[in-house]
Amino acid sequence: MAYNLLKGKKGIIFGALNEQSIAWKVAQRCHAEGAEIVLSNSPLALRMGELNNLAAECNAPVIGADVTSNEDLENLFAKTKEHFGGGVDFILHSIGMSVNVRKGIPYYENNYDFTHKGFDISALSLHRVLQLAMKHDVINEWGSVVALSYIAAQRVFPDYNDMADNKAVLESIARNFGYYYGTKKKVRVNTVSQSPTRTTAGSGVKGFEGFISYAEKMSPLGNANADQCADYCITLFSDLTKMVTMQNLFHDGGFSFTGVTQAVIEQMEK
Ligand SMILES: NC(=O)c1ccc[n+]([C@@H]2O[C@H](COP(=O)([O-])OP(=O)(O)OC[C@H]3O[C@@H](n4cnc5c(N)ncnc54)[C@H](O)[C@@H]3O)[C@@H](O)[C@H]2O)c1
Repeated sequence: MAYNLLKGKKGIIFGALNEQSIAWKVAQRCHAEGAEIVLSNSPLALRMGELNNLAAECNAPVIGADVTSNEDLENLFAKTKEHFGGGVDFILHSIGMSVNVRKGIPYYENNYDFTHKGFDISALSLHRVLQLAMKHDVINEWGSVVALSYIAAQRVFPDYNDMADNKAVLESIARNFGYYYGTKKKVRVNTVSQSPTRTTAGSGVKGFEGFISYAEKMSPLGNANADQCADYCITLFSDLTKMVTMQNLFHDGGFSFTGVTQAVIEQMEK
């Protein structure tokens, strides 16, 4: 069901890779809610070709950008402004990658070249996007930026590896840049801390199936799926949440505040 919550709004969606991607669902929901969007992903993701289907469905241009490159981001922002004839009202940062995770290197043996690359893509990229957006005045007054995070920023989930550090920094950047962008232009910046979700990035984490079923049992409402995450992001892009900024918002069915559930106790007693 659509409510026209984003009618007249314009935005950039980073990170839709395939139909499982959280960003894919957010793009579809933005379109359904009346927004016009630009889709962006890395050159590698663009070569996979699936994004073109989403672009056709949402009537959105695709503009590639490696988020570790200022040049790519400046090109994306310039082309987006040209396309819309002005700035945007919202940005989704739905980007994450750890080479250490991909290569199965445990946290206590991390390769720092890989750590740097993952940090650049998964955390620093939010700062880069915000800094360049501010420099080129890309986001309109009362605009909204949302980045996706995970509770490993606060608690230990061993196989989440160096992504835990990346998420902690990501949330810190949202808080700190949120201060400056809010003061300067009333732009809000938040992170949404999402339940484990079956996507390409999610499933890359070792032991993911155990992880996801444990979270399901530990959440009074169960795990939040990608469609539900998209719904939540829409509210954060809408004018209904204008005064929410610098927050890490848990979207996890109650997992983050649950000590134990009956389902887990019963499992332990087996
Ligand atoms: N899946 C989960 O369990 C889960 C839970 C909480 C948070 N998140 C977060 O949600 C976000 C989206 O992940 P997802 O689960 O939809 O997986 P996904 O694999 O579909 O999305 C990750 C995206 O990052 C993009 N990316 C990687 N390197 C890039 C670069 N250099 N430049 C530009 N884009 C680049 C990929 O192309 C891909 O589109 C990530 O931040 C992830 O950490 C995921």
